[in-house]
Amino acid sequence: MQQISTLTDDLLYQQVAGHIEQMIEKGVLRAGEKIPSVRSISRQQGVSMSTAFQAYFLLESKGLIESRPRSGFFVRLVNKDLPPQPNRTNPPLIAKNVNIDEMVAEVFEAARHPDIVALGAACPSPTILPVNKLNRLTIAIIRDYGERALEYEFPPGNELLRRRIAQRSFTWGGNLSANDIVITSGCMDALNLCLRAVAKPGDTIVLESPTYYGILQTIQSLGMRALEIATTPNEGLCLDALEKALNNNEVKACLAVTNFNNPLGSCMPTENKKRLVEMLGKRNIPLIEDDLYGELYFGSTRPQNAKAFDKKGLVLLCSSFSKSLAPGYRVGWTAPGKFKTKVERLKSMTTIATSSLPQMIIAEFLKDSSYERHLNQLRKAFCEQIQAAMKAICKYFPQGTKVTRPTGGFVLWVELPKQVNALELHYRALEKKISITPGPLFSATRKYNNFIRISCGNPWSKEIEAAMVELGKLAKG
Ligand SMILES: Cc1ncc(COP(=O)(O)O)c(C=O)c1O
Repeated sequence: MQQISTLTDDLLYQQVAGHIEQMIEKGVLRAGEKIPSVRSISRQQGVSMSTAFQAYFLLESKGLIESRPRSGFFVRLVNKDLPPQPNRTNPPLIAKNVNIDEMVAEVFEAARHPDIVALGAACPSPTILPVNKLNRLTIAIIRDYGERALEYEFPPGNELLRRRIAQRSFTWGGNLSANDIVITSGCMDALNLCLRAVAKPGDTIVLESPTYYGILQTIQSLGMRALEIATTPNEGLCLDALEKALNNNEVKACLAVTNFNNPLGSCMPTENKKRLVEMLGKRNIPLIEDDLYGELYFGSTRPQNAKAFDKKGLVLLCSSFSKSLAPGYRVGWTAPGKFKTKVERLKSMTTIATSSLPQMIIAEFLKDSSYERHLNQLRKAFCEQIQAAMKAICKYFPQGTKVTRPTGGFVLWVELPKQVNALELHYRALEKKISITPGPLFSATRKYNNFIRISCGNPWSKEIEAAMVELGKLAKG
C-alpha cells in the first residue's frame, strides 16, 4: 500500500479508510478476508494508532468491514456480493387464534433422522460446545457436593447461579441482583411462565412477524391470541405498526426477541428498545423480552436489552444457556420485574423446580473468564458459518432469492422466488437427507410460503456445501 501524505488528523483517517475502501472495491481485499491489523496499518502508513482505529471505525460504520472478537477486522460480504434482504413484512393487523402445532410436529418428526444434514433445528453443534470442561465440572461437583446435588432446588433457584447471571447484567446495560432472578427449565419455560403471569386465555399478545414457532405454540397451548406486527430484517419490530396495533386493540402483553431474532436475525437499535419500553409503559402493557441470542453478537459490543430502560418493573427478561453452553441441561432464567412473586409461584405450581445439578455446573462454569473465552470462540464460529452459508446461497440458489444479513445468532431467513413452496421443498429435501425449516411455521397467518430458515449451528463441511448445492437445485425446480 502507498504511504499516505501528511494531512491534518481528521482528513488523514478518512484517507486511510478511502485506500482500504478502494482495495475492497477493486477486489484486492475480498469478502470474508482478514484486513491488516490496526498496528500494521499504522506502521505501514506512518499514522498514529488512533488514526488507524478511526479509519477502521469509519469503515465499520459504513458496513464495509466488521470486527470479530479476538480475531481482528474482516471484509464484510458487501451489498454488491449478496442478494438483497427480504422486504419489511406486512401481516394483517388482526388478532388470530394460533393453530400451528400439527404442522410443527409433522415437520420435526420427519426431520428426526440420525444421518441427516441438519440445516433445520436451531441447535449449536456439540463440537463447538465446551463438552470436556462441562464433564470435568460435573465430576468435581458430584465429588465436592455429594448429596446436595440430589436435593430439590426450589424457586427462585440456585443462589450462586442467580448471582453470576446478575453479575453479567452490566454487559447489556442492566444492574440486576440475584433476588431479581428466577431460574427456569430453559427459555421456553421462562416465556411460558411470564405469559401466564401477565395474561389469561383469550387475551391478545403482540409479537414480531415472523417469529419463532415455539413462541407461537406456547401462545396456542395457553389459548391466547397472536397479533403479529411488521418487522424489517435489520431493525426487527416496526414501532409505527406496533403503535397502530396498540391504538386499535386491547393488548395484554408484547413478546419480542429484541436481539438477533429467530428467524430474522434482526437486532432492534438501542433507541428503538427505549421507545418500545416507553410506548408500552405509557399503557401499562408488560414486555416479555426474549434475549436468548443476545450474547452471540459478531461485532465488538454486546447489544443492550430493552430491560435496561425498565423503570416500572414492566419488562420480563427471559434467556437460557441453550444456545451458548448446553441445550440439554435445560437451564434458563427470567428477571420478571414486578411479576416476580407470581412467576415464582407459577414455577412451583407447574414443575416444582429446575434440575439442581445442571444449575450447579453452570454456576461453576460462570465463575471465571472461561465462559467469556468460550463465548468469543462461539461467536467467531457462528459468524464464519453464517458467512459460508451466505456465500453458498449466492452461488447455488435461484435468481430472485433474498437473504438476511444478521450481525449475530446463527440462523438465516431466506426468501425464495414466489413459485417455490417451502413445505414441498422441505419434504423433497428430506428425501435427499437434508433438513430445513419451512417459513409457514413462523406465523399464525399462514404467510411466508416461499421462505425457509437455514440454521448455521454446525461447522462448515463438504457435506453441508453439497447439501446447499442440492437445495439450490431443488429450489430451481
Ligand atoms: C427465540 C427463541 N426463544 C426460545 C427458544 C427456546 O429456548 P430453550 O431451548 O432454552 O427453551 C428458542 C429455541 O430455539 C428460540 O429460538
